[in-house]
Amino acid sequence: MHTHSFSNADEVAQAVAQQVQEACKNAIDEHGSFHLILAGGSTPKHCYELLVPMPLYWQKVHIYFGDERCLPSGDTERNDTMAYAALLNHVPIPSSQVYVIPAQMGAEDGAARYCTLLEKAPIADMLLLGIGEDGHTASLFPGNQALDDTCLAVPVFNSPKPPSERVSMGLSILNQARKKIIMVTGANKQPVWQAIKGGESFPVTKIKDATWFLDAAAEGK
Ligand code: 6PG
Repeated sequence: MHTHSFSNADEVAQAVAQQVQEACKNAIDEHGSFHLILAGGSTPKHCYELLVPMPLYWQKVHIYFGDERCLPSGDTERNDTMAYAALLNHVPIPSSQVYVIPAQMGAEDGAARYCTLLEKAPIADMLLLGIGEDGHTASLFPGNQALDDTCLAVPVFNSPKPPSERVSMGLSILNQARKKIIMVTGANKQPVWQAIKGGESFPVTKIKDATWFLDAAAEGK
């Protein structure tokens, strides 16, 4: 397991922002574009804010979302609302290159629509993920049937984290990303991190060859 440890959440955010900048440059040098899958939740917000002034070639960046909550467009609790407020409204990414999940259509229809989009999308250059206290990642929760759904985008029902209905990228496409970063910050993530280190399996441990970025609070230091 490849981990990087930092004193606090700000340092994690800085380090991951640097990783994104580097991956962006390499991808554009290599194939002329950078395809990035954003994480939801609150952990990545500061990292997104730090990206705003950084000199990325934004016109060549394509943004996807690892998951979305089935809420109306613009709802303050949607993952894309956070990403727009922290990053996407402040950088010159062509709006046609931001692929939001139409989760407002409901889990089934939203997943079907995103599936169609992802079928035409290239393999992502980078995936950012967070983890929940129960070891979920994106909207793939322990014991949820979405974990076994092999589609590119999957409907999620009965999510223990509100709202109960979501759309998530499936494990297959998450694992296809060239570089995978998982951010873990805060004392509330210490128990699940200890369990992961102890070898317990969770949805997040099904993400293979990820690099983990942790702060001291999550590591219990
Ligand atoms: C969501 C996220 C979810 C999140 C974790 C961690 O829709 O809630 O996609 O997977 O990454 O729950 O959330 P925090 O970063 O807020 O702890």
